[in-house]
Amino acid sequence: MRKIKLGILISGRGSNMQALIEACQDHSFPAEAVCVITNNSEAAGLKVAEQAGISTFVVENKPLDANKIHEILIQYKVDLICLAGFMRILKVDFLSKWHNRVINIHPSLLPSFKGLDAQEQALKAGVKITGCTVHYVTPEIDAGAIIAQTAVPVLPNDDIQSLSERILAEEHKCYVEAVRLIAESNAK
Ligand code: GRF
Repeated sequence: MRKIKLGILISGRGSNMQALIEACQDHSFPAEAVCVITNNSEAAGLKVAEQAGISTFVVENKPLDANKIHEILIQYKVDLICLAGFMRILKVDFLSKWHNRVINIHPSLLPSFKGLDAQEQALKAGVKITGCTVHYVTPEIDAGAIIAQTAVPVLPNDDIQSLSERILAEEHKCYVEAVRLIAESNAK
């Protein structure tokens, strides 16, 4: 089985990155994590990636050096870029070089609650079901084609933290399954 090569972009905690790295450690999983790139030298996820033996890179943040990110991804022969809590916007010139090869995870059932604070938006709207979405990244924020979604209930006493934690647990599984779907459909 040819494994697809993942480049993972993070800005912070990196729990989705960790879920992907752990999935990739299973020899039967059809992807391998080859590099982790961050715009934030303080990102907690960097240490996790280093401990897992993955090559890590910090790129210039202000302005974001997207050309440098592109060079690293090419150097590592990345097939699929996974944004995992990456808090910078990738512009059209970068995305056009990686057409249909950049995916993201968002903590709502898109197209509801795009943008920041999706869990808070769901609580304020009073919805009873929210969730997470893995989607292709396009220049329009949180608007690309949907790859996978998981529904998560909103419980009566939820606050932002409790709801976010319930969604996050599903994000980790949903992201892994979305990568599997893409890798397996590439292999056909
Ligand atoms: C997740 O909730 C993800 O959906 C959003 O940012 C958060 C990142 O968390 N895009 P982590 O860094 O993966 O732990």
